[in-house]
Amino acid sequence: MKMTIDDRELEVAEGRTILQALDDAGLLMNGIDIPHYCWHPKLSIDGSCRLCQVEIEGMPKLQIACNTPVADGMVVRTKTEKVRKAREGVMELLLVNHPLDCPICDQAGECKLQDYAFEYGAVGSRSREPRRALKKNVTLGPTIVFDQERCILCRRCVRFCKEVTGTRELGVFNRGDASIVDTHPGAPLDNPYSMNVADICPVGALTTRDFRFKVRVWFLDEKDGICTGCARGCNVLAGVTKNEVQRYVPRRNDAVNDTWLCDAGRLSYHEIASPDRLRQCLVRAADGVLEPTDFAAAIDTAASRLRRLIEAKGPEVVAGIASAHATNEDLFTFKNFLEALGADTAGVPVALGESDEILVEAEKAANAAGARAIGFGDAAPVVERIRSGGVEALIVLGHDILDERHLGGTGELAALDSVIVLDLHQSDLHHVAHVLFPVRHAAEKLGTLTNSAGRVQRVRPLVEPSWTAYSEGEVITRLGVALGLPGFEAAGYDPRAAARELSRRNPAFSGIDLETVGAAGRLLVAVPRPAAGEDD
Ligand code: SF4
Ligand code: SF4
Ligand code: FES
Repeated sequence: MKMTIDDRELEVAEGRTILQALDDAGLLMNGIDIPHYCWHPKLSIDGSCRLCQVEIEGMPKLQIACNTPVADGMVVRTKTEKVRKAREGVMELLLVNHPLDCPICDQAGECKLQDYAFEYGAVGSRSREPRRALKKNVTLGPTIVFDQERCILCRRCVRFCKEVTGTRELGVFNRGDASIVDTHPGAPLDNPYSMNVADICPVGALTTRDFRFKVRVWFLDEKDGICTGCARGCNVLAGVTKNEVQRYVPRRNDAVNDTWLCDAGRLSYHEIASPDRLRQCLVRAADGVLEPTDFAAAIDTAASRLRRLIEAKGPEVVAGIASAHATNEDLFTFKNFLEALGADTAGVPVALGESDEILVEAEKAANAAGARAIGFGDAAPVVERIRSGGVEALIVLGHDILDERHLGGTGELAALDSVIVLDLHQSDLHHVAHVLFPVRHAAEKLGTLTNSAGRVQRVRPLVEPSWTAYSEGEVITRLGVALGLPGFEAAGYDPRAAARELSRRNPAFSGIDLETVGAAGRLLVAVPRPAAGEDD
């Protein structure tokens, strides 16, 4: 069907409402502004706020754009005087009871009531009655604080808990101008996706305990990132100030996470600045103690240990453990390194945990699918070979190999000649490692991660560690150079060049590199493509 909106012609699929049609075309609030509170692209239609009224040719009254289906040939106007007056009327009614909290409200700066009051609000109030006095600063559950006075009754939060999580903790109580949103008696707002209600609340009624009063939002630099909590690879906007990530909020990607994040993933940004990050290169001295050292000395020690062992026993005694937390480019470099070395034993351990039917995946790493597509198989054969005494040197990325499903501890590594560790965090590997390198978090480096559906997504540095840290690709490249391996003649590691080479050499990554991957990601060639419209 065809419709015209503000003199712009649009093709619209049958059965879509005016707001849905604009959203499908990427024009809503991005060329054509129709203010709205209760409508949300991923929730059912409520039609309660009345802010989205528009004029439709041939209809005597204004209609709400969120619940009016497009008809072929429909002509819609969003900027007429009649529409403006209606928006002003709606705003006046909403502001009758809204407290003058902006200076102390954490939503200020990203509040739709503030924005539309600025555009459509009256300068003064005609109301003589006092505003409603309701609950302030109520803890609704472990993650959310509620200010009932600020609620504009759009019911987005209620619909979210009913339609997305199915937990139904929130409801609208009473009738008419006595209506309030609240939790059902004895049922706190406590579900694994509870913090999404703060994102969808258009005002400062629902705020997260994690971010509340931490920093004013206008001080945040918002950068695109990927959650690394599980194999879903949800798209996030990271709010950064003073070189520190202050929060994650969802970034819409209909092919990955719609507009949601699980609470655990949302809070996973805390691990970026966690006190247990590995912050320096360490080498085990002759007295058995791990001593801090510089990068060059750590590379020399690791290279000389490997060289000595390979000269004596051949490269077959060297094994590699890849990390499903490293980028595709890091892992491709590691794969090339192991091949150039002649080490034929390698695998990738992946930590497992709970999953659900909304977003959360059982694999608790962001790049397990990428590691497999690059050629790292299961870690079981490596573990087997370590146990049978066939391995004397292990180069290990991350510490997931210590999981119960794999080694179950460091005991079997204690007898190895050399254990070279590249890791983000301190772990029990410290007890057996001979050389340790601190590596960068995915939020601190450039590269790509492949999610469980085979979608390759870009990460860029959101922050710079305050200590010297390296990407795994950088450490491995320097080690390759120190060992004089073929293909490792150049001193530097360049993730862009690694991505191009991966795309050239691995058919699954054909046509995908850091320049072409785009904000929404691209599907691996070898993975069956989902239904039309899902890919970018
Ligand atoms: S708390 Fe927020 S999301 Fe929930 S009904 Fe009120 S304004 Fe809407
Ligand atoms: S579902 Fe997975 S990727 Fe998405 S936010 Fe949660 S942990 Fe992160
Ligand atoms: S957005 Fe249409 S009535 Fe609320």
